[in-house]
Amino acid sequence: MNRILIINKSRVIEILNKIYSIENLQKLRAELSRLKNNLIRRRRTETDNDGVLNVDENGDTIKLEQKYLLNEIKQIEETQTLERTKYYIERLKKGIAEIKTSKINDINLNRWKEYDEILTDSLWVLSKRDSTGPHSAWYWGNFIPQIPHQMILRYTKKSEWVLDPFVGSGTTLIECKLLNRNGIGIELQPEIASKAIEQINKGNNSESNVFIEVGDSAEVNYQQLLGKYGIKSVQLLLMHPPYHDIIKFSDNPNDLSNQKSTQAFVDLFCKVVDKTYEVLDKGRYFILVIGDKYSKGKWIPLGFMLMQEVLKRGYFLKSIVVKNFDETTGKRNQKDLWRYRALVGGFYIFKHEYIFVFKKEKESNND
Ligand SMILES: C[S@@+](CC[C@H](N)C(=O)[O-])C[C@H]1O[C@@H](n2cnc3c(N)ncnc32)[C@H](O)[C@@H]1O
Repeated sequence: MNRILIINKSRVIEILNKIYSIENLQKLRAELSRLKNNLIRRRRTETDNDGVLNVDENGDTIKLEQKYLLNEIKQIEETQTLERTKYYIERLKKGIAEIKTSKINDINLNRWKEYDEILTDSLWVLSKRDSTGPHSAWYWGNFIPQIPHQMILRYTKKSEWVLDPFVGSGTTLIECKLLNRNGIGIELQPEIASKAIEQINKGNNSESNVFIEVGDSAEVNYQQLLGKYGIKSVQLLLMHPPYHDIIKFSDNPNDLSNQKSTQAFVDLFCKVVDKTYEVLDKGRYFILVIGDKYSKGKWIPLGFMLMQEVLKRGYFLKSIVVKNFDETTGKRNQKDLWRYRALVGGFYIFKHEYIFVFKKEKESNND
């Protein structure tokens, strides 16, 4: 189990300084081992003679993964020379003393090894959806919570604002709450929006504010909408539009899934991109989650079509993530039939979708 430790920062640094000053490798290791023993106490009630651990977060304390500390110490222990040993002690001290984050997230780069959960590869094969907290898969056409989870952790800081113009069952907003970010979602169907709010409110109270606006995201006045919540801009834009008419979400003619042609679908999507552009801070990220479709024997690359349009609109591409998706129950039951159809028709069965990661240019294209 990965235990989180609350350590007395200044005390640990003091001990590390003392260890650093020892010029005999054996004596140094003995002191290091004493520190290690204090960090692996099994129970909180066990005393550590050096006062390195704390029971709460008051005072000059920081939370750290026990695994991270023990790995760092192991590296120091395995080093053969005094010089190298001191180098690693210095690095550990830095990791504890300084928090180095970028402008767009709270990841402490001095302790980057602690963030096992953050994916950095462009291929995601996720075996199951996260169903913790208020997440449930009641909405056909939702995305798995891991998508907004990863993107929010990577591209926002605590208390920043996320905008999701196709919020559906509110997966993004649930993640905002879990991660202490604020969020605004837009949804065309009032009944889906109310159900989403109900679901979101099942979660723990957190400091974050999340709201759903019922409306057409191609027509919303975004400045006005944000103004209602006392903000002028958002720091992350996340869109999961319909994959054209693969799932027909409603009979509303403004629904992206109701557009008569691929071009009409692309045009309406572009309207949302243009309208939301002004409210995303420069240098921040826009995530688009979309899959392709098959029509009359032809693969329609919706993902790449939308990508090309976004790139004309003041964004550049940072990454394309390819993610597996689960078979729907219907398709699972007809697995053989689909395989037969694929063999006859000369096509491949969809098993992936895209997560496009765009970044808004620092200078807008109208500047
Ligand atoms: C793929 S789903 C989003 C699912 C969402 N990520 C979730 O996890 O539940 C797309 C959503 O966009 C909504 N939608 C379609 N056209 C819209 C429009 N013009 N304005 C706002 N919402 C729209 C649909 O009703 C649907 O709920």
